Formats: sequence, structure tokens, C-alpha cells
Amino acid sequence: MLKIAVLVSGGGTNLQAIIDGIHDKTITNTEIKVVISNNAGAYALERAKNNGIDAVCISPKNFESREVFNDALLEKIDEYGVDLIVLAGFLVKIPEKLVEKYAGKIINIHPSLIPSFCGVGYYGLKVHEAALARGVKVTGATVHYVDSGMDTGPIILQKAVYVEDGDTPEILQKRVMEQAEWKILPQAINMIANQKA
Ligand code: GRF
Repeated sequence: MLKIAVLVSGGGTNLQAIIDGIHDKTITNTEIKVVISNNAGAYALERAKNNGIDAVCISPKNFESREVFNDALLEKIDEYGVDLIVLAGFLVKIPEKLVEKYAGKIINIHPSLIPSFCGVGYYGLKVHEAALARGVKVTGATVHYVDSGMDTGPIILQKAVYVEDGDTPEILQKRVMEQAEWKILPQAINMIANQKA
């Protein structure tokens, strides 16, 4: 059984896709042990509670330094003895010591076809604004392993999504989530849970 921790900062629609995937068995051999957010108001925490999953808020604001926050985050994750950490819209810099301790055991969903529109400053709507500004005809999403860089680890899955005339960043974001993110993140977890990634 793959035990996972999901780290979130926002609405949690990717978390919901994982929860639904476990319920409908498109994800097997997997259990979400804990959902952790830096944002006490993240609806993702409500989604966890509504599904009987431990929901924990660990915010840098509540610690005297980033170092102390990093240690608290690592300690909380260690408590659950997970096999995989899933970053599902987690907007806090991942501590170096976490990347080292869980090397090869952290994955991230990014809302573009890496290496396009990724790295420092490319998150949330900014990714889609950049794609529209560049005038790409195809964008999409990527699931990748997390290494010490920003969106630079080995790619696990990608899924392309067409940009359509009249797209706004919000419309494009929604299509990328619906057609790509919510499909490839559960698929990647299922692959890892069944030794295929
Ligand atoms: C998604 O667009 C994801 O690609 C990005 O952050 C957003 C998280 O959305 N990393 P949600 O909290 O899963 O709804």
C-alpha cells in the first residue's frame, strides 16, 4: 500500500481528483495519510476533512524563522511514515532537507508542458498568462519528480491541451485542469503505487 502525503495551498481540485481516483479505483494500492497546507483557509483542507483524512495547517507565519518552519514541516511529514509526497499546488519553497530525505519520493503537478513556462515566477494563472502571451497553440500539464531545482526533475507524465480562440488565462487554466491535471496526477500516483514509474 502506497502511503501518501498531499501538500496543498489552495482549492484542492487536484487533491479531489486523487480522492475520487482512490474511490473509483483508478488509483489502487494507495492511501492518503495526511493533507498539509501552509494556508489555514485552503479549501483543500475541507476536502480532506470531508473525506476523513487528517488535515494539518503548518504555516511559515506561525514560526519565528523559515528554518524552524522547514523543520516543523519535515517533522510532521515524518510522523506519517509516507512513501510519497505529492505537491498539488503547494506554493511554499520545498526545504532542501526535505528534497534530500525524500529523494525520488516527491512528485509535483505543473500546469504547462515543461520545459515551457516553468521555473521561478511560473505558478497558477501566471503560467497560462505566459502561454497566451507567447501565442502557443498547445499547452498542457506535467507531473514530474521533484529535485533540488524548480520544476526540473525527471518527467513522469504529460498531457497536451489545445489553446482555443478567445481563451482567457482563467478559461485556459480550467481546461488544463479538467483535461490534463486531474487525469495525469492520479495516473502518475497509480503508476508509482503499482511500480510503473
Ligand atoms: C493547479 O493549477 C496546479 O497545476 C498548480 O496549482 C494549482 C492547484 O490547484 N500547481 P488546486 O488547489 O489543486 O485546485
